[in-house]
Amino acid sequence: MQQKIIILDFGSQTTQLIGRRVRELNTFCEILPYNKFPREDKNVIGVILSGSPMSVYDKEAFKIKVSELRGKYPILGICYGAQLISYEGGGRVEPCGKREYGRARLEYVDKQCPLFKGFEDGSQVWMSHGDTITALPKGFKCTASTDDVKYAGFQCEDEEIYGVQFHPEVFHTTQGTELLRNFVVNICGSRQDWSAAAFVETTVKELREQLGEDRVILGLSGGVDSSVCAALLHRAIGQRLTCIFVDHGMLRKNEFADVMKEYEGLGLNVIGVNASKKFFRELAGITEPERKRKIIGAGFIDVFDAEAQKITDAKWLAQGTIYPDRIESLNITGRTIKSHHNVGGLPEKMNLKLCEPLKWLFKDEVRRVGHQLQMPEKLINRHPFPGPGLAVRILGDITPEKVHVLQEADDIFIKGLHKWNLYDKVWQAGVILLPVKSVGVMGDERTYERAVALRAVTSTDAMTADWARLPYDFMAEVSNEIINNVQGVNRVCYDISSKPPSTIEWE
Ligand code: XMP
Repeated sequence: MQQKIIILDFGSQTTQLIGRRVRELNTFCEILPYNKFPREDKNVIGVILSGSPMSVYDKEAFKIKVSELRGKYPILGICYGAQLISYEGGGRVEPCGKREYGRARLEYVDKQCPLFKGFEDGSQVWMSHGDTITALPKGFKCTASTDDVKYAGFQCEDEEIYGVQFHPEVFHTTQGTELLRNFVVNICGSRQDWSAAAFVETTVKELREQLGEDRVILGLSGGVDSSVCAALLHRAIGQRLTCIFVDHGMLRKNEFADVMKEYEGLGLNVIGVNASKKFFRELAGITEPERKRKIIGAGFIDVFDAEAQKITDAKWLAQGTIYPDRIESLNITGRTIKSHHNVGGLPEKMNLKLCEPLKWLFKDEVRRVGHQLQMPEKLINRHPFPGPGLAVRILGDITPEKVHVLQEADDIFIKGLHKWNLYDKVWQAGVILLPVKSVGVMGDERTYERAVALRAVTSTDAMTADWARLPYDFMAEVSNEIINNVQGVNRVCYDISSKPPSTIEWE
């Protein structure tokens, strides 16, 4: 039996983080919309109710009947989740007056409470709430307080129900992992047997059962997810997997050849297709970012489909979809910022069954599976790279000449990051070719050439990101090298915007 913790999502920005922390405790978990609790699932060992930007008093607040879960599973409510438990149970929740945000200390902790086992007095926690609990339901007792929050923690006296007003999942709650371990392991009884090795073993077995003697096609992008997916399928079905790697002409310098070599080294059966001419033709003169993405997405499907048609006996299309791509997150604003789906619609069009063996994994877990499969570090630790490639890093229209200029500048930046041991310290990095020219001087000559922007960010999941504080000496070296070696560029800038409000890519 695959034990699991269910995390009900009430819309908090940190819900995914709760999931990651639980997985770090080698325990499988699923994040589900607040109203989609899997009643029939016999493998659930505990439930966590997430935070939310809402108040329990909001008319449209996401609510569930906590009473329906009570007595069946241990429950932990975090922030809004705790308020909901209290409110539903007959306690009182009131607005704080002003939103409480930031670090606080637990002045009182009940060390007899199983949730706070191992806690120290004065332990630092992270608060972010507009409402606060002012009275607990009958049968509940206070287990932690800060100067400002009387009920920072509580428990039900005769049931396994716990609540915390602070966020144990965020880094600033220094004993947050201990609290989650107390809940997941000691209270819910997790065996902590979810590991990369166990995942590989069970997934390979399941894939063999699922696929039988069928042939499978997979689109490789050079990225971690599709590469690990391919290695896993290769372990399961060997040469019955055929991979297709399409070069749309907007990959990094030498990327296509380098990555093809890596794949062949893994023993994968890969067909490389150079379709750059088609893409350059279709993109000529197009400046609007979403149109560029659509053209590349549609072109990719055409090329992939034409290649795949040649493998007449294929029954499955494998994709390296990972968990964060699928979590049905409660987007409170209901708006899409950018469309990232590169190959949406492909399985339907091709009339193939879909196989997504990584669909339960977070990015760091995908990398651990890659290690388990003994894939080369170079493939596993690659930075994320957008499907449309350099097309979304050339502002304005795309020409082969601009791609060449950008590839050269980008190559200097990325090689520099490796040389200075900075590559693994940033989430991703790249260069953007700007549609502006500026005046410079080289030797005795006046120049009038392009400007590029360097972008490097730190992040854990690309949902939020901060600009990387790269050393000035490193930036000076990269800037010099670019301006001296890349013809057509005479100015280098560094992007110091964080996400939000900016995004990682410029388009
Ligand atoms: P943004 O720019 O929205 O990007 O902050 C977040 C992450 O997604 C990558 N990205 C894409 N990936 N197809 C992809 O497969 C796309 O169209 C696409 N656009 C952005 C981006 O590089 C970053 O890692």
